Amino acid sequence: MQALKGTHDILPEEVYKWDYMEGVIRDVCARYGYKEIRTPIIEATELFQRGIGDTTDVVTKEMYTFTDRGNRSVTLRPENTASAVRAYLEHKMYGDQQVHKMFYIGSMFRYDRPQAGRYREFHQFGLEVLGASSPLADAEVIAMACEIFHKLGLKDLDLHLNSIGDKNCRPAYRKKLIEFFEGKKDQLCDDCRERLYKNPLRILDCKEEGCRRASVGAPEITDYLCDECHRKFEAVKHYLDSLGISYTVDPRLVRGLDYYTNTAFEIQYPPLGAQSAVCGGGRYDGLVEEIGGPSTPGIGFAIGLERLLLALEMQNLIPAPKAQKRVYIAALGEDAVAEGFKIQEELRGLGIVTDMDLQGRSLKGQMKQAGKLASQFTVIIGSNELEKGAAAVKNMDTGTQQDIPFADIAGYIAKEEHNS
Ligand code: HAM
Repeated sequence: MQALKGTHDILPEEVYKWDYMEGVIRDVCARYGYKEIRTPIIEATELFQRGIGDTTDVVTKEMYTFTDRGNRSVTLRPENTASAVRAYLEHKMYGDQQVHKMFYIGSMFRYDRPQAGRYREFHQFGLEVLGASSPLADAEVIAMACEIFHKLGLKDLDLHLNSIGDKNCRPAYRKKLIEFFEGKKDQLCDDCRERLYKNPLRILDCKEEGCRRASVGAPEITDYLCDECHRKFEAVKHYLDSLGISYTVDPRLVRGLDYYTNTAFEIQYPPLGAQSAVCGGGRYDGLVEEIGGPSTPGIGFAIGLERLLLALEMQNLIPAPKAQKRVYIAALGEDAVAEGFKIQEELRGLGIVTDMDLQGRSLKGQMKQAGKLASQFTVIIGSNELEKGAAAVKNMDTGTQQDIPFADIAGYIAKEEHNS
């Protein structure tokens, strides 16, 4: 049996890398005032159809959707924004008129063609701010994404920024785009020909060569923003400038999910190649309403943790795990093992990492194992020690050995460790 295509195990030897990334992220979240939310991995399919949009690739091609035994259509979450907004509504968080800042870390599922940096089960860290309409919130969210990368030491990232307008100005732009591409229909790929009347903005970020060529000279959204959207976009840029955060205005950045309005952004790490977006996000002022709640502004982003890990490894930025001080108990004979077993629990109770043999090794084999585990102390209990009521405690660093009564061993090692 093998893991399903596009899914992967994170083995015990690798988990420290994830702990490290998540530790840095959680630390930054705490400083920016975000609280964690954990939503179910499975939701009603309709949530994503309405939230993400039923003409998007994610909804039409990539969702893991099935009918459960109660005949309901359910879907493994392809992203967490729609679920976070559902939870916000279900628990009437809007009732207190406050800004809610939430973050999440977890698995997402998209049925796409797996390749380096693209998986069917992948992990995101993401955050959502609900109830804040000020462009200051947009800038704060982008600054926070940059701070996470900064804390991790990651360099050579590109921040791409755009405004995709709102329901007032986007329709006119959409019309212009359709007019522009109608004359070039035969140059577009099958997907884009289908998108032309449903979701023409997506043609702009199609990676197909023909579509790229066809979109040269296409009208740019930034020329069609209404005064309000233009003003907001200028404000976001101004706040980013004030923090010295550099960005490229990219009028082709349209993002793949339908809920976005105004600010859209991506942070890319070009050496990752085709899957270079490590972070994507934007504002979604219509989403809460779309899902059935009161009109509420929202903004957020998500970082793909597999891609972040690839980037950190490319720049050699993951610190090696700290070697843990540990104790090994080498015991031979049933009574000695029973005595060692008790001492092991005492040591663990004092917070000291302790192991003993579970495979019936000889005393020599156990000593070897103690060395392999880089134990700082080895407690040796054989028949002689049982008679004396004291074990030989060997300091593996200095090679010195001392007899210590069974009852005092845990205390003795705790003191030695404390002093070392
Ligand atoms: P997204 O751009 O679809 O946005 O995904 C965000 C990030 O997740 C991407 O930039 C990428 O790093 C990672 N990602 C996406 N798909 C895959 C995949 N198949 N394999 C590996 N990594 C992947 C969202 O999901 C939005 N919910 C972000 C957001 C939050 N917008 C507002 N709030």
